[in-house]
Amino acid sequence: MRTPIIAGNWKMNMTIAEAEELVKAMLDGLTAVKNVEKVLCPPFVDLDRVASLIQGTDIKLGAQNMYWEEKGAFTGEISPLMLKGLCQYVILGHSERRSYFGETDEWVNRKVKAALAHGLTPIICVGETEAQYDAGETESVVRGQVEGVLRGLTAEQVARVVIAYEPVWAIGTGKAATAEQAQQVIGGVVRATIGRLYGQDVAEQVRIQYGGSTNSKNIREIMSQPDVDGALVGGASLKADEFTAMVRITSEIYS
Ligand code: PGA
Repeated sequence: MRTPIIAGNWKMNMTIAEAEELVKAMLDGLTAVKNVEKVLCPPFVDLDRVASLIQGTDIKLGAQNMYWEEKGAFTGEISPLMLKGLCQYVILGHSERRSYFGETDEWVNRKVKAALAHGLTPIICVGETEAQYDAGETESVVRGQVEGVLRGLTAEQVARVVIAYEPVWAIGTGKAATAEQAQQVIGGVVRATIGRLYGQDVAEQVRIQYGGSTNSKNIREIMSQPDVDGALVGGASLKADEFTAMVRITSEIYS
């Protein structure tokens, strides 16, 4: 049985003061739920403050990106050594990183390996664009991304990663995939690909989230799908009531 994981991707939102306010407003609601793993992914500059605010709770912390080198002349980058000890998770290969900052599967793969080498759990994002969806390429695109980002990993490492299937056309658009579409790609493509490459045992262990316009209204149906193990939440994670409601609803499904 996989523990569901709901992660809030704050993206480039929340000053330190705003982050403090948001976390305080969520704290009771999130800690009241025990059977769901809860992860907050604020911008880098907020990490330290959020870490202090959630200290002693079972809420986990994640970063939104990372470079693969440990240190050196890489102006503007953040390394796994800097994140290690501060957070447990790191989102890698988000579609916004891919489209605005040119990240490729090969880059994401290097980052995944660096994260794992430093004890960080990567939340690896995959998903087709609207044009690829319209062209009927969802399956081949997502299969290729899964193969690319996991290349060279051992089965034991693959079992530890979290994958987020986020169709690009659903991100921030208010147009979430249907629960059936999410299940079809997550079960039929992502988990199936892992099963083919690393064996059924490993595929059954990997947690796979859905992401893209999730909210407290659609989360129940999406989370009820057998292969959907959580959500990577953008916009709704910036609202304390919404995010805590999503965690609570997920907990009801799993209890
Ligand atoms: P959204 O973003 O929930 O605002 O659609 C999801 C994501 O980009 O992770």
